[in-house]
This record gives sequence, C-alpha cells and structure tokens, in this order.
Amino acid sequence: KNIQVAIIVGSLRKESFNRKIAAEMIRLQPANLDLKIVEIKDLTFFSEDIENDPPPSWTDFKNEVAAADAVLFVSPEYNRTIPGVLKNAMEIGARPPKQNSWKGKPGAVVTVSPGAIGGLGANQTIRNAAVSLNIPLMPQPEAYLGQIKDKLLEDGKTVNEKTEKFLVDFLAAFEKWIDQNKQNS
Ligand code: FNR
Repeated sequence: KNIQVAIIVGSLRKESFNRKIAAEMIRLQPANLDLKIVEIKDLTFFSEDIENDPPPSWTDFKNEVAAADAVLFVSPEYNRTIPGVLKNAMEIGARPPKQNSWKGKPGAVVTVSPGAIGGLGANQTIRNAAVSLNIPLMPQPEAYLGQIKDKLLEDGKTVNEKTEKFLVDFLAAFEKWIDQNKQNS
C-alpha cells in the first residue's frame, strides 16, 4: 500500500449511512490505496481567536490530514448543504494562512442520503469549498447515493451488488485521479 487516503465522514451519528458507506469503501479499496477515516467529532469549534494557540484536537487533525496523500469526503446533506461539523473541519484544516493542510491533495466526494436526490446540494457545496481549500477534486464520476436503504442488504450495512460495482469503479477512477494529480514533493 503506498497511497494514504484520509476519509472525512460528515456525520457524527453512530448508525450513520455515510459511515457505513465509508466502511464499505474501505472493504472494497484497490490494492494500492490505504483508506482510513480521520475523525472530526472531537474538533473544538473553529475561531480565529485561538489560531495562534490551537487546541490539540486541531493540531492532531491537521497532522493526520497533512500526512495523507489524498482526501475522500463522504457526507450527508443537511438542509441542502453540508453538516456544520464538516464545515468546521474544513476551516480547521485550511488555517492559519499558509498552513493549509488540504493543499494540493487530490480529492473525491461521495454523498449519501435516504432521500431521492442523493445529497446533490452537499456534493455541490463540497465541490465549491474544494476550490478554496485547494483540493483538486475529481470531476467524474459523480457519486450521489440516494435511497440508500434500498442499496443495502438485509444486514443494513453491506451494499448490494450493483452499488458494490459502482463503488469499485469509483475507487478505480479515484486511484487514477490521485496518480494524475498527486504532488511531487
Ligand atoms: C437531514 N436530512 C436531509 N436529507 C437530504 O437528502 N437533504 C437534506 O437537505 C436533509 N436535511 C437534513 C437536515 C438535518 C438537520 C438532518 C438531521 C437530516 C436527512 C439525512 O439525509 C438523514 O438523516 C441521513 O441519514 C443523514 O446521514 P447519516 O447520519 O445517516 O450519515
């Protein structure tokens, strides 16, 4: 394994569908990728007031992101945009100026919802933010996993065959994207 991928899950919920999909992507990961969830639940709320004396939760998070070669966002949609906890993590990673931990890391986004439109709003919001975070985000394939309950087997955590194939193909495309966009340094 030589490519480290930090997965950022946008939900803190124990039974989160997004976390389940992240776990499935870890199960289905290509041989050369090492996917790992970087937790965001303990991050102190962002404020510029404490940037010069950051809490350990921030520095640990920034170090974990910086150590990865690539980043994968797996998130629900909240009110047509992203959960505040995910936005908070984006800010912390990006700051202070000139210490953007996301910088230049090839990225991809998957949104998951029990609803019909698959988190389109959140997916677009993440793409929007990626421009500012300086994450070269894979344009295609797009991944809107709507009606997620129908994509899971009886056990409630394993994806069905069709979704499994979709995720395998998505990860293969992401591996290629990482290869084409990774930094030389
Ligand atoms: C939601 N949900 C939701 N779903 C959606 O498709 N579009 C939306 O805009 C919203 N808005 C929204 C706001 C808030 C505050 C909550 C709590 C929920 C439903 C959401 O998709 C559902 O709860 C998912 O199961 C959340 O993802 P996890 O926690 O299962 O990963």
